[in-house]
Amino acid sequence: MDKPKVVLGVSGGIAAYKACELLRRFTESGHEVRVVPTASALHFVGAATWSALSGNPVSTEVWDDVHEVPHVRIGQHADLVVVAPATADMLAKAAHGLADDLLTNTLLTARCPVVFAPAMHTEMWEHPATQENVATLRRRGAVVVEPAVGRLTGVDTGKGRLPDPGEIFEVCRRVLARGVREPDLAGRHVVVSAGGTREPLDPVRFLGNRSSGKQGYALARTAAARGARVTLLSANPSLPDPAGVDVVRVGTAVELREAVLRAAADADAVVMAAAVADFRPAAYATGKIKKKDGQEPAPIALVRNPDILAEISGNRSRPEQVVVGFAAETDDVLANGRAKLKRKGCDLLVVNEVGERKTFGAEENEAVVLAADGSETPVPYGPKEDLAETVWDLVAARLA
Ligand code: CTP
Repeated sequence: MDKPKVVLGVSGGIAAYKACELLRRFTESGHEVRVVPTASALHFVGAATWSALSGNPVSTEVWDDVHEVPHVRIGQHADLVVVAPATADMLAKAAHGLADDLLTNTLLTARCPVVFAPAMHTEMWEHPATQENVATLRRRGAVVVEPAVGRLTGVDTGKGRLPDPGEIFEVCRRVLARGVREPDLAGRHVVVSAGGTREPLDPVRFLGNRSSGKQGYALARTAAARGARVTLLSANPSLPDPAGVDVVRVGTAVELREAVLRAAADADAVVMAAAVADFRPAAYATGKIKKKDGQEPAPIALVRNPDILAEISGNRSRPEQVVVGFAAETDDVLANGRAKLKRKGCDLLVVNEVGERKTFGAEENEAVVLAADGSETPVPYGPKEDLAETVWDLVAARLA
């Protein structure tokens, strides 16, 4: 099979150095990459670096190798164009169809999916001109990854950082896998809970579970690649933040409930992938619980936690909101799943059989998605991202 052809556009921001890492991810995983920097990008990272890392010639100009008509050919042959970092100037040019160098010409001739990963100072990102350009690009089908929040060049901190190159790569990989299809969650806000809640006993101990958060993170990542605004309510996983996703950290079931209710207020879909503790210790000891010589340990009294999935299913903030739950079952998987779907009142329930191979923390999963309308969608054993894509297919069909 031919290697997928990727055009990596680099515009002139200090984050250009991070695009070297993105480039390596592509080449090391079997992609053919043509780097097209702007003239300003070359102030930050020189052509020799791009050329050596990609194994391909590098040019910013439409006037080089004119006989090969590069300003048309590069875009026409690409399977994916990703611009990282995309400056405010680059977003403006792309939104208005300006074409004064090789990269902007490539963007006009590309018929493949296009991903922009903006990076700039917070003020520039928040400026109405930039926001309107981003909205225009998204409306036309481009995936614009939200910048991360954190330290910017200089002393200031805020929204505008280029997300981690490994996470931009994951977005690109998902977009490439989907091919030329509309980002069908563009304009949608989706909320995903992930991980496992921790219910504290004292300042050093908690009741928890083995959920790794990988399925929820796969859901967040795939939704972002399909154009959604994603709020990820993350209960304790130790995973890197997915690119372009708003991550809200929570600890306990009660904190998760508050975060879900807040985020769900304007959400088109809520997916409860988190493993929520059904019970929490009735009392929290403010000092460390000590063992006492000659005394048996005191039993731990528990109280019920709120059932978040049942609550949001029964109280939708918008009538068309789609609510998805997860269930891990060991016996009578489908019958128990159907009963749970009814009891919780959600639209879709992803039922996993728990057993050998199908363990917490694995990279792969197998499931059946049960729907309130009676349909069943089996998802064969495979990457958690494949299951996530099936969930979004079903959600998108319900939102359409
Ligand atoms: N869930 C929730 N709030 C809880 C418990 C679970 O929102 N307090 C959600 C989970 O995020 C998941 C779904 O409900 O989407 C199924 O969780 P599960 O624990 O399997 O359901 P239970 O009703 O607790 O059923 P069981 O008696 O099998 O534990």
